[in-house]
Amino acid sequence: MKKYTSVKDVANVEELVNEALHLKQNPYKYKHLGENKTLGLIFLNPSLRTRLSTQKAALNLGMNVMVMNLDKEGWALETQEGAIMNGTTVEHIKEAAGVMGAYCDILGIRSFPKLQNRDEDYNEELLQQFIEYSGIPIVSLESATRHPLQSLADLVTITENKATGKKPKVVLTWAPHVKAIPQCVANSFAEWMGQANVELVVTHPEGYELAEEFTENAIVTTNQDEALQNADFVYVKNWSSYNDYGKVLTEGAGWMMTDNKLALTNNAKVMHCLPVRRNVELNDEILDGQNSLVLQQANNRTYAAQAVLKRMLEAL
Ligand code: CP
Repeated sequence: MKKYTSVKDVANVEELVNEALHLKQNPYKYKHLGENKTLGLIFLNPSLRTRLSTQKAALNLGMNVMVMNLDKEGWALETQEGAIMNGTTVEHIKEAAGVMGAYCDILGIRSFPKLQNRDEDYNEELLQQFIEYSGIPIVSLESATRHPLQSLADLVTITENKATGKKPKVVLTWAPHVKAIPQCVANSFAEWMGQANVELVVTHPEGYELAEEFTENAIVTTNQDEALQNADFVYVKNWSSYNDYGKVLTEGAGWMMTDNKLALTNNAKVMHCLPVRRNVELNDEILDGQNSLVLQQANNRTYAAQAVLKRMLEAL
């Protein structure tokens, strides 16, 4: 595997899920695979889970890890081709990524969208430039449009919890939030579920339609109660508008996932990528109750990352 930026980079999704499950049972089986190899983790945005779980995954494989908060600790990056750099930017991404490629064997990049210009965000300019100029395998730690390590961990978690012999009904439901949130997690979850053996329903208020490329295998409805009927898994997430790009269109009264809504489901397991706004997106009772899978999801982030890093190390 040379890059991991979306489900499209995965030749066989089921095999990768099984690899992650195998690594969960045998985390140190390949502890020599990453000997003398270095993973660089570059963050332009905050992180708890992605940072720690990917670092742990690399350590389980015997890799060295370097972590840098590039937004705070690095030089201001220029990304425009042909720029005359007489302003605030100090270093061009051509040199910065090239240098990182010389120091590391695999590079992880987190770069959120700015939510100002849809084309700029959805072109994934920064991620593409890191791929081009670093010259080494790149793992997305959440980009402008997707969060593939999260989605793999989510699918691993669903695989662990689904009833045998039944195609699970999985509902991705929009939830309220206090600020504009990217579409990445929702896009990515829908895209991965589209490649899995599940029935996917996406529900959100009017105006929160995701880009069609992500939901082409889903039933999409603005009726949350109807969507939740007989659900086996409910994935709760806020996102801002794609069509009215980056805007918050409604406070979303009535869209918070609560016990009453859970009662509509098939005793569904409830998922969230975290961090979660308690009693805004999801109520305390669900998060503290037996239906919540949020900590299991977070734990599975390690084995999802480990499966991806293992494939990359094997291909070096
Ligand atoms: N779910 C997730 O990516 O968490 P962090 O933003 O804390 O890494």
